[in-house]
Amino acid sequence: MSTGSGITGGAAPPRQVILDCDPGIDDAMAIAFGCGHPALELRGITTVAGNVSLELTTANALAVLDFAGRGDIPVVAGSPAPLLRPVLDGADVHGESGLGGARLPPAGQRARAGHAVDFLIETIGSAPGEIVLVATGPLTNIALAVRREPRIVSQVADFVIMGGSAGRGNITPAAEFNIFWDPEAAAVVFGAGWRVTMAGLDVTLQALATAEVRERMAGLGRLGSELLLPVLGGYRRQVELPGGDPPVHDVCALALVTEPGLFGCRPARVEVETAGRLTAGMTVTDFDAAGPNALVAESVDVSGFWDLVLGAYARLPAAGVPASRPPQP
Ligand code: BDR
Ligand code: CA
Repeated sequence: MSTGSGITGGAAPPRQVILDCDPGIDDAMAIAFGCGHPALELRGITTVAGNVSLELTTANALAVLDFAGRGDIPVVAGSPAPLLRPVLDGADVHGESGLGGARLPPAGQRARAGHAVDFLIETIGSAPGEIVLVATGPLTNIALAVRREPRIVSQVADFVIMGGSAGRGNITPAAEFNIFWDPEAAAVVFGAGWRVTMAGLDVTLQALATAEVRERMAGLGRLGSELLLPVLGGYRRQVELPGGDPPVHDVCALALVTEPGLFGCRPARVEVETAGRLTAGMTVTDFDAAGPNALVAESVDVSGFWDLVLGAYARLPAAGVPASRPPQP
């Protein structure tokens, strides 16, 4: 039953999630959402380089968790570079720190020892059928994990990625950033034999943080003034956004886990292009293929999405603390 705040009531146990991410503006917003929604239990965050270096994505994940009051959630660092290609930095979009205009205090907690790939394999293997894997960065850690321990393919409860597009790309005309960053890893992941739910640009560019949404964020105390609005205001380049309203790509992937009914998805065969000179990282999507390997999100109930997301944000302690200063974009 919907409570009207976007929070679903009922006695179902929370879905246990590992978020593999590269914070990143929208990754940070996804982490905050994951901390706030009672239907999600973040079992851990694994980090990968992507939007910025691994050092920064890991520090950012820790800082956002701390700010959200969930410094107890383990963070484990993973891959600093793609499998085969040189590192491509996304700081021209996400700012030097990776968190746009947000200036969070450094976290009080540290990353856990060990490697993300081991954490993924151990955590998923310890609870077969229970862990939902959500990837919102390049797929390097997941590809390495699946190569090291192929059983995770059947052990995950669900696997949702923010990445790819059935249509245009954003980093190139053909490719979306996360897939382009490490196409070989993405090819391993899409070809691993599990069903990937692809929350790509087809759907994420529908859920924009409009002026009305940002106004609602401004009512969320310090959460709005020190995290949500400064990160969004710090997007440096918005190639895909002629209207200027920022996307929150990665939040869509976690929202899809939380309330799948908000999304319209269709089975398809998705193959990742690794050889093309102009098309590397393209997710070639065939909705008519005989053997689908993916469920592709194509539509979202935008107002239901924002009720869900803002309702989760409103539950975080920082949302209840009055803003001490106006938002610093
Ligand atoms: C994806 O690329 C990154 O820059 C964002 O964090 C998101 O995961 C969007 O193409
Ligand atoms: Ca990301």
